[in-house]
Amino acid sequence: MTKITFIGVGYVGLVSGACLAELGNQVTCYDIDSDKIAKLNNNIMPIYEPGLKELVARNKENANLKFTDKIDDSFQHNEAVFIAVGTPTEPETGKADLSYVFQAAEKIAPFLNDNCLIIIKSTVPPGSSQKLAAFLQSKGYNFAIASNPEFLREGFAIDDFLKPDRIVVGAHEEKSINLLKSIYQKLIEQNYKFVATNPATAELIKYSANSFLATKICFINEMADICEKIDGDINKLSEGIGLDSRIGTKFLQPGPGFGGSCFPKDILALTKLAAEINEDCSIVNQVIAANEKRYQRMVDKISLLLDQQLKNKKIAAFGLTFKANTDDIRCSPAIEILQKLASEGAKIHAYDPEGQNNAASNYSEFNYGSAYQIVEEADILLILTEWSEFKEFDYQKIANLMQQKIIFDMRNILDRKKLSALGFKYNMIGKK
Ligand code: UGA
Repeated sequence: MTKITFIGVGYVGLVSGACLAELGNQVTCYDIDSDKIAKLNNNIMPIYEPGLKELVARNKENANLKFTDKIDDSFQHNEAVFIAVGTPTEPETGKADLSYVFQAAEKIAPFLNDNCLIIIKSTVPPGSSQKLAAFLQSKGYNFAIASNPEFLREGFAIDDFLKPDRIVVGAHEEKSINLLKSIYQKLIEQNYKFVATNPATAELIKYSANSFLATKICFINEMADICEKIDGDINKLSEGIGLDSRIGTKFLQPGPGFGGSCFPKDILALTKLAAEINEDCSIVNQVIAANEKRYQRMVDKISLLLDQQLKNKKIAAFGLTFKANTDDIRCSPAIEILQKLASEGAKIHAYDPEGQNNAASNYSEFNYGSAYQIVEEADILLILTEWSEFKEFDYQKIANLMQQKIIFDMRNILDRKKLSALGFKYNMIGKK
């Protein structure tokens, strides 16, 4: 059992801290946000993530997990400190802003013993561990710094952590790698792969994994566009190429473009890093451009379905988050598309199972309501995320409530035959 602290109880810090406690480590999660800590101490989760509440409660109860807003001398007993604070995009440069990482390390450093390993869990550009080591040295500290990127998907984060495809760690010293091995011992015993390398490679693994996945999505979206013109079927195309084990079936679901708090930010940061070292990274740059164009393509398609007349049209939207099973609306394709439609004069009425409150407090230009409320008198219904509850709705009732029976399903989740039988003009991605 290793004594660990997490600095930053955001999405990554909270899920990772709770999961490492579940693996038998003794974890303290620290955050400056006292309100958040008080809530966690009362079992109120600051984010929506399936299974998290139970995981946190269980590990608090068995005393493996603690939450605090105070750094004190008890931190001296730590063997490892994970930094899991945000690395947002710098608005002027597009680079990852490392200031929170540096501030967190500087703040905790005086309370740690010299042998404590500092591990960067936040997503940072290659070279950041080295920069942090140099920064701390300039302040008189001599800690070993390691990298341990995360590969958690929102909505599946706990499974992704406890049943990982691989654990990636980067450190220069054998001792640091061994400590990380002991932290993940239970997973290693279950034969999950443990990839150890140097910090810069570990950091780049994270950026390249996200960039590669985003490339896969852009590629399938491009094939969907071709399918629409040649009487093709993108679902069959995904199956047909995905079953080649070299390609793989995952991340071949076409849609309105990728979004979220990770892909757009990380891919942009990778291109900025590449530019700094005189590499042109043309594929990754193209992925950013293609994804931005995708949102406008969706708007053009909606406009076409409404006879090029968006002004004053009532648009009903199911889904506001960047994908299903989350309440996260950061860089959501749904929001991007709806904003473009609103700017053309369309009236947006939206429903989301978990993201509605977040959206309502940020986007007052949209109207909100229950699923059946927002479709009343609507000219078109958009399916923007793949929440499974959308499949269970009563589409006969929806047909009766709508002004025009048009659906544009940007996630290809509804039953085309059933909806056509109800009189809907049903449009999907990647099929005429
Ligand atoms: C992503 C990665 O999948 C995680 O491995 C990584 O740890 C995480 O970023 C991160 O860097 O923290 P996440 O942002 O939760 O996870 O979302 P994804 O499930 O990857 O989806 C990203 C976007 O791609 C969403 O907008 C989703 O709708 C879209 N997508 C995904 C598709 O359009 N098609 C697909 O086949 C898959």
